[in-house]
Amino acid sequence: MNGSNVDIDWESARHANKENWEDRVPVHAEAYGLDAFDDPEHLSDVVRDDLASLMPFLPPAGLSGLDLCHLQCHIGTDTVSLARAGATVTGVDFSPAALRTAREFAARLGIEATWVETDVLDARAAVAGDFDVVYTSIGTVTWLDDLDRWAAQIVALLRPGGTFFIRDGHPALYALDEEAPALTTRYSYFATGHAQQWDDDSTYAGDGRIAHARTYEWPHALSEILGALLRAGLRLVHFDEGRTLPWRFSERMVEVPGGYAWPVHERDLLPCTYTIVARRD
Ligand SMILES: C[S@@+](CC[C@H](N)C(=O)[O-])C[C@H]1O[C@@H](n2cnc3c(N)ncnc32)[C@H](O)[C@@H]1O
Repeated sequence: MNGSNVDIDWESARHANKENWEDRVPVHAEAYGLDAFDDPEHLSDVVRDDLASLMPFLPPAGLSGLDLCHLQCHIGTDTVSLARAGATVTGVDFSPAALRTAREFAARLGIEATWVETDVLDARAAVAGDFDVVYTSIGTVTWLDDLDRWAAQIVALLRPGGTFFIRDGHPALYALDEEAPALTTRYSYFATGHAQQWDDDSTYAGDGRIAHARTYEWPHALSEILGALLRAGLRLVHFDEGRTLPWRFSERMVEVPGGYAWPVHERDLLPCTYTIVARRD
């Protein structure tokens, strides 16, 4: 059954996930609207929203002149947007196909970027240099089993005084049954020590089929995510929760400015996203 808890080691789960992400790349390259970036002013909606949260924690010139490492950068639409906002960018992902697409996309737009193929849990050893900002968003920690190891990479990539930013789907959202006719919990909110197994030959953008349909994800409570960052030595400077998502989690969600949300009568019942800004002192 989709979402059921299974015993699988990290390497086998990671291998399955990588094959799945490799398959998604050509589908997303068609569906992500890359042509919109031909307008040199265009930024992804995700980065446009994230910059509004991040700016108060940056120097007055914003990202201009800052070195930024984007973890789990996928095909580079957000990375390119962060470069357009002024940062010198390094995109990190474990999918060679995603990085190939990102490299060609950025080159076509005349945007300089460094692309590094590595597991995010090994990012410090793979990426050269230190960063003023480490950024990751929308579709990140559920793909990882060990958040202490994740947080250790982030701290080690940041310069003293550097800033970490994450916005992602809220763990309370991921506990919900996406198919139920009303808000109903179905999956674990807290980590269980097991991966959740999913079989789905579709993806969240585009209609193409995914040959490697099986994936593994790990539920992480908000306390686990925050706790990992704090234990690694980061200091929390901003926390927020949001009512809209950039993708349609459930068919019952309705389109709103900035993405999708629950129907109005349910919108205040629980959060769809969380945002964390944390600093390395
Ligand atoms: C949902 S996407 C996030 C990207 C971004 N929000 C976007 O839409 O462009 C998830 C990305 O995480 C990458 N990924 C998943 N597990 C990973 C891992 N263990 N190490 C590095 N990258 C990983 C996938 O290849 C994929 O590009």
